[in-house]
Amino acid sequence: MSEKSVNVLFVCLGNICRSPTAHALFQTRVNDRQLEHSIMVDSAGTGEWHIGCPPDKRAQKVALTYGYDMSHLQARQVSLADFSKFDYILGMDKQNLADLSAICPDHYQGVLGLFLREAGIDHTDEVPDPFYGDEKHFENAIQLIINAVDVLLDRIQKEHNIHSCPLL
Ligand code: 4NP
Repeated sequence: MSEKSVNVLFVCLGNICRSPTAHALFQTRVNDRQLEHSIMVDSAGTGEWHIGCPPDKRAQKVALTYGYDMSHLQARQVSLADFSKFDYILGMDKQNLADLSAICPDHYQGVLGLFLREAGIDHTDEVPDPFYGDEKHFENAIQLIINAVDVLLDRIQKEHNIHSCPLL
């Protein structure tokens, strides 16, 4: 195992709907593979409106129907320091990526990209913002995220030569 963890940051606009959902689901996959000492997960928003707030109730409700409790998460805003800490900074949509690119230091050596694209999903590259939508928009968002978390984790493990612990 390498001594430094691989750090993954999911980013959306408010950090209350899409990125905390990706955070919670990806963290669960990391834990399931017993990789929590090798891969660190976080999420943040490009906006500041919801700093300190828990995930949106509608996002929490749909996540719970799939068995994911994300009530412990708290929104924060992305910062310049994140580019020093995170090896993967993954936006949910193209506006998130544009906003991240605008503040990304020239010397950033990590992967800055779209979550679905970096996961290798080829039929769509954005997780659309469900905030002004209804239940089916939240359902659509979590479905896209569910389909991408395992393949993203496979990619990261492969790129960093991180092996899952064999089951005893
Ligand atoms: P998120 O959704 O970016 O997926 O967390 C949004 C949350 C809040 C707002 C927009 C999108 N807002 O305008 O407050």
